Amino acid sequence: MAFALEECTEADMPRLSEIMSLAFAHDHEYIESVFPALDTPTGRGEGAERMLATKRSDPNTTFIKVVNDEGTMIAGAKWNVYNGVVPPAPQLTGDYWSNGDEMEFARNMFDRYLVPRLTYVQNSGGNLVVLDMLVVDPIHQRQGAGRMLVRWGTAVADRLGVEAVVEASDYGRGLYAQEGFIVLEKYLVLVPDKSAARRKQWYMWMKRPAQART
Ligand SMILES: CC(C)(COP(=O)(O)OP(=O)(O)OC[C@H]1O[C@@H](n2cnc3c(N)ncnc32)[C@H](O)[C@@H]1OP(=O)(O)O)[C@@H](O)C(=O)NCCC(=O)NCCS
Repeated sequence: MAFALEECTEADMPRLSEIMSLAFAHDHEYIESVFPALDTPTGRGEGAERMLATKRSDPNTTFIKVVNDEGTMIAGAKWNVYNGVVPPAPQLTGDYWSNGDEMEFARNMFDRYLVPRLTYVQNSGGNLVVLDMLVVDPIHQRQGAGRMLVRWGTAVADRLGVEAVVEASDYGRGLYAQEGFIVLEKYLVLVPDKSAARRKQWYMWMKRPAQART
């Protein structure tokens, strides 16, 4: 089956939110807390709304998708390309959580999850690309869509002569390693003491070195 890589339109955000829910299921505590109830129509709608707001407002963000030859969007990614500008640290805002504790937990997760990334963005002077999100509909996984979306960003990195970084899940790390990323650290997202019993989020912090220009 032939796949095409395209930039997402605003109308793609509901499907992207759906794929994010299907791909991560309940496997990823960061997604689970920052995008609550993603397996419900309300949660998916809010996920779509939030990604749409990002798409409209963040000049460093590009949403891309893979479409199959039936015209179905089967995968999506969000790449951040900073182009030499260090943006302000992002804040988790909104009113999407069922209570104050869940909101506090999500904010803590969001802030601490992003520490390695924001340090790299800062230290690079904004000369960096970041794979912020990569999701493939489970019924279309292992068909090459994920690799196409990774290569979109690594091609940008090569054009700019910069590093690429990613917070890799267990599912993604093999693919990233094949595409030139190396593991720098196994990073555990710390939680406040009162949430110590909750499931932990960790990831492999990976970097793809800048490639020598030919
Ligand atoms: C990770 C993910 C994006 C990979 O997408 P994909 O379209 O299935 O990947 P590809 O078909 O391009 O696979 C490329 C290679 O990655 C590796 N790979 C992909 N999925 C894998 C899995 N579940 N387990 C082990 N290796 C895997 C394989 O080496 C694969 O090559 P092969 O199929 O020839 O053996 C997809 O599994 C996904 O959406 N997972 C859930 C969400 C997630 O974890 N996203 C990444 C966050 S960092």
